[in-house]
Amino acid sequence: MSAVLERPDGRRGAGMNGGTKLVLGALGVIGLLAPVALSAANAATTLGDSAALSGRYFGTAVSAGKLSDSTYTGILGREFNMVTAENEMKIDATEPSQNSFTFTNADRIVNAAAGKRIRGHTLVWHSQLPGWMNSLSGSANTLAAMNNHINGVMGHYKGKIYAWDVVNEAFNDGSGTRRSDVWQNQIGDSYIEQAFRTARAADPAAKLCINDYNIDDATAAKTLAVYNLVKDFKARGVPIDCVGLQSHFNSGSPVPSNYQANMQQFAALGVDVQITELDIEGSGSAQADNYAKVVKACLVVARCTGITVWGIRDSDSWRASGTPLLFDGNGNKKAAYTSVLDALNAGGTTPPTTTPPTTTAPTTPSATVPPTTAPPAGTKSCSGAFTVSSSWTGGFTGTVKVTAGSAAISKWTVGLTLPSGTSITNLWNGTLSGTSVSSLSWNSSVPASGSVEFGFQGSGSATGVGVASCTAS
Ligand code: XIL
Repeated sequence: MSAVLERPDGRRGAGMNGGTKLVLGALGVIGLLAPVALSAANAATTLGDSAALSGRYFGTAVSAGKLSDSTYTGILGREFNMVTAENEMKIDATEPSQNSFTFTNADRIVNAAAGKRIRGHTLVWHSQLPGWMNSLSGSANTLAAMNNHINGVMGHYKGKIYAWDVVNEAFNDGSGTRRSDVWQNQIGDSYIEQAFRTARAADPAAKLCINDYNIDDATAAKTLAVYNLVKDFKARGVPIDCVGLQSHFNSGSPVPSNYQANMQQFAALGVDVQITELDIEGSGSAQADNYAKVVKACLVVARCTGITVWGIRDSDSWRASGTPLLFDGNGNKKAAYTSVLDALNAGGTTPPTTTPPTTTAPTTPSATVPPTTAPPAGTKSCSGAFTVSSSWTGGFTGTVKVTAGSAAISKWTVGLTLPSGTSITNLWNGTLSGTSVSSLSWNSSVPASGSVEFGFQGSGSATGVGVASCTAS
């Protein structure tokens, strides 16, 4: 086993001399259990670079409205290598009216974060919901709207997101029972599973997380509710890759003494753990000590892959009066900043090399369509293949991959086979007429041998669904 450090940006740990490599090599196995001391020569001077020494990221929440503030963007550019949109990717921001998506502010953040990685936050939540969504009724209707939202937002950012908070704050404090919200009340217990299955199909490269607050204490009922959900998903092959601990701390909700053990117990289920919204109210050395405690706990847990603070300066915080962040209102580094930097520079266990999340195996073999004999070169043609993404009693979602033949095409139409009793309730990335799906303006041109995808949700069984024809012009 090698303990050579992989940086989140894919480069190897900077500045390792031969001696250091030797020590790390010898400590490879122990390194999984105890922090690895790095030589001072490796100490880095920014949060992101210091976290990268042990293969982790250090991120912050960013607000689009502050991107014109040069103090803010200066610190952002210098210190952080992961970005979460504080509000701009939320449901009310991205789908203010049904099936009408807006990404202007979220895109501004993504553009400002060029060269950094992005955490997507968040797709299914009880809060910051547009009115139309909060008043949805009927399980099929609500499920279709949820899936359409996930597909719309994840589709827009496909391939650009490191991890998505697919479902946020689904459990009640204290009891750990399910929170009563439109998803739970209209769809029922299965909504979380449905959301994760839809999310995996929408962007197979993104890690899929469940995120919550007050799940920092290893023995709390709410923590165990999330633990049991992840365990169940893992046992049944429902896609899930990570647990996000929001970790908003203050005197009434301090850093628990079993915080590290808690991250370890989640990691032992085979998921990554990320600290997603860290802020700790207080000041001076007490605050600095609490920050160090959190960072050191993450560094010990190999699958704790990164830390995000919920804002840059105290004045940027949603809890500004508690001065919970690493920079003061003028952008100066606080004692908490130094303790975090020092803890990161002391090194830690190395997260396992990231492999892309595994995609759920299609449950129905793909049906490829005519033409069975290749048309003469230069003739415009296409073929389509249908794959089930997820299915449940009474419904399913699936995608059709449309592939151009040996010539580029500028329009395509796929004829679907739908067995009796099966119908399409919702379709994206195409326009439906009867059982035919045609391209939209933005995905009609496909280069020779290239492909595009559309997807749909159906009611009834997916068995027998397939592609009957594909015509191109
Ligand atoms: C907060 C933002 O920081 C505020 O600007 C907004 O008014 C409300 O939401 N849990 C979450 C975050 O998952 O999205 C919340 O962010 C803080 C609590």
